[in-house]
Amino acid sequence: MTAPTGGAPTPEAGPRHVALIMDGNGRWAQARGLPRAMGHREGVQALKRTVQAAPDFGIECLTVFGFSTENWRRPAEEVSDLMGLVRSYVASDLNRLEKNGVRVRVLGRRTGLPADIAAIIERAERSTAHNTRFLLQVAFNYGGRADIVDAAQAYVDRLLAGQASGPLDEASLGLGLSTEGGPPVDLIVRTSGEQRLSNFLLWEAAYAELVYQNVLWPDYGHEALADAVRQYQQRDRRFGAIAVEPALATG
Ligand code: IPE
Ligand code: IPE
Ligand code: MG
Repeated sequence: MTAPTGGAPTPEAGPRHVALIMDGNGRWAQARGLPRAMGHREGVQALKRTVQAAPDFGIECLTVFGFSTENWRRPAEEVSDLMGLVRSYVASDLNRLEKNGVRVRVLGRRTGLPADIAAIIERAERSTAHNTRFLLQVAFNYGGRADIVDAAQAYVDRLLAGQASGPLDEASLGLGLSTEGGPPVDLIVRTSGEQRLSNFLLWEAAYAELVYQNVLWPDYGHEALADAVRQYQQRDRRFGAIAVEPALATG
């Protein structure tokens, strides 16, 4: 991909689907002598800003990591704060998302979630199901390994029910992933300076570009997203092939 260096990224060359590991809420709060919960609350504001900014760059889909299957290891109070944010985010933003043509889809396991959170998730998905302008996928109680295991189990179930046959292939396994039907992931961004996936989108990351940014998630917004898009545009995605040289003019 050829890209302009500096200047505003051009929507044409930009990623369609950006996945965000929203990290650094705790450190943002700690740096200000505030409780971690305040960092999470500011993180929700950053999410709202980023969803609003995304279409400016030609992005059609954002997938954000809200809560991992491993985040249950945090103190009960912090887990409960994070659940509370789902309640307030949906209560305060669902109408606007719905009106703005955003379809909300939640990735991850529903089992193990408080019943009211599962109901809120279903309401958000149902009330935005008709929207097609933008897709917001929220990974919540999500783990990449769990998602692959669930997809394999779904295949076994189809096999036993006589609805599948033959050896397992990538397309059949993909049918059971929670991202099924969505656009391929072009770019995975992690904020806060950590450089790892932490069990996010393991399958889907296969040929995604990775960008690590030193900004803490509560400070994220239009400018940081522009920088990530610009970095993406400077990458050369080969998918295992070799770069194609422009054909030489003959004759
Ligand atoms: C990301 O911020 C939000 C979630 C994991 C829910 P953290 O809470 O991980 O913040 P740090 O990494 O401790 O700074
Ligand atoms: C990943 O961040 C999960 C989310 C952003 C929701 P963590 O902060 O939980 O990851 P580790 O523990 O630093 O790997
Ligand atoms: Mg973290």
